[in-house]
Amino acid sequence: MSHNDIRCQVAIIGAGPAGLALAHMLHRQGIDSVVLERQSEAHVRARIRAGVIEQSTVDVLTELGLADRLHAEALVHDGFYIRFDRQTHHLDFHRHTGRHAFVYGQAEIVADLIDARRQTGRPMFFDAADVTVADFDTDHPVVEFTHEGRRRRIDADFIAGCDGFHGICRESIDASRFNFMDRSYPFAWLGIMARTTPVTDEGMYCAHPDGLSVHSMRGPHLTRQYLQVPADTDLADWGDERIWAELRRRSASDDHPELETGEIIERSLAPLRSVVTDPMQQGSLFLLGDAAHIVPPTGAKGLNLAISDACVLSNALGVFYHGAGRDALDAYTATALPRIWQAQAFSWNLTTTLHRLGDGDFDWNLRRARLQRWANSVDEQRALGEVYLGLPFPTSWHPPMVPA
Ligand code: APR
Ligand code: PHB
Repeated sequence: MSHNDIRCQVAIIGAGPAGLALAHMLHRQGIDSVVLERQSEAHVRARIRAGVIEQSTVDVLTELGLADRLHAEALVHDGFYIRFDRQTHHLDFHRHTGRHAFVYGQAEIVADLIDARRQTGRPMFFDAADVTVADFDTDHPVVEFTHEGRRRRIDADFIAGCDGFHGICRESIDASRFNFMDRSYPFAWLGIMARTTPVTDEGMYCAHPDGLSVHSMRGPHLTRQYLQVPADTDLADWGDERIWAELRRRSASDDHPELETGEIIERSLAPLRSVVTDPMQQGSLFLLGDAAHIVPPTGAKGLNLAISDACVLSNALGVFYHGAGRDALDAYTATALPRIWQAQAFSWNLTTTLHRLGDGDFDWNLRRARLQRWANSVDEQRALGEVYLGLPFPTSWHPPMVPA
């Protein structure tokens, strides 16, 4: 071995929620890993994403000792509001399930996970360039990367592909052995972060015949809001005034004051699509989170799925390193997929009910009929709430085998 070589049990590619949560779950079981991230640490910490965390996810993070700041700072919500026909309705999922949703930006979770990783003293490389994976059809997969001008090699037992939808792990698998199922939608979300006061005390989806607007928040004077826009939208066409006018028009109501406008501090465009990869593994390479599946942002399931995948894989690796064989690893896909499809079904339900999909009155009346059921039926609310606040994880988080 040269001094550029590293030996570890699990090479983790990507320092998003999936990779960082997995790294910590493995650490708690005494399993060593190396985390490789293409971007700089500052970039990863500042990346604004969705921010609704299921009770199920919070429970796991709490058990792992990773949720202290979340419990101190997150907004704790019972459900969300829907608005249509200028009327606002609260869907109180807490009443039906006893559970909550936690509003806490993904960047905050990622920052907490990076801090926790650093405290373990285990290796984590930011700015890792030209990462490659090889030999994962064997028990001796190899990862190479360039860091600070040096080409380095990792000999691992397993590779965890946590590098998102555009990462190299998806690219490296043998596509002929996989089923890639997807659905794209002809629209995107234009998202803003603004220094304004939220119009409601919990998040709100406004289903307007002309399209959806979403009114979420990160604090008492910080809002995160989205507009359904055509997929080919150019952000340059959307100045502040146009954004506020459209947010106000779609959210106009007879029962609340008009939306406050103010300084927009960030704006971005996100396409909407659903993707599921089956299987989520090849040999000793496993795909987690966005590397394996994408959900549209409607319902904010992405981060939660990333953490539940990490839970499934970390437990299977725990079983393996405990000497109990490969069965749980072989069953990784079969264990993780049912919950992923439940999240896909939920996101599809929200997406098709809340967005303008087609032209004409049929489309709008169909959506309104579904919205009326959500607003008026306790059974509908219970069913939505069960998934929104988080179905049980496929595997529980096993107690650590070594002290933290
Ligand atoms: N080498 C190393 N790292 C890479 C590479 C590469 N070739 N390609 C991508 N990455 C990194 C990205 O920079 C990112 O930090 O992998 C990480 C993937 O993290 P996320 O995109 O956050 O994906 P994941 O951890 O699966 O979490 C899913 O994130 O995209 C959101 O909305 C999505 O909430 C969901 C969550
Ligand atoms: C957010 O707060 O970022 C958010 C809220 C609701 C969604 C998606 C994202 O459906």
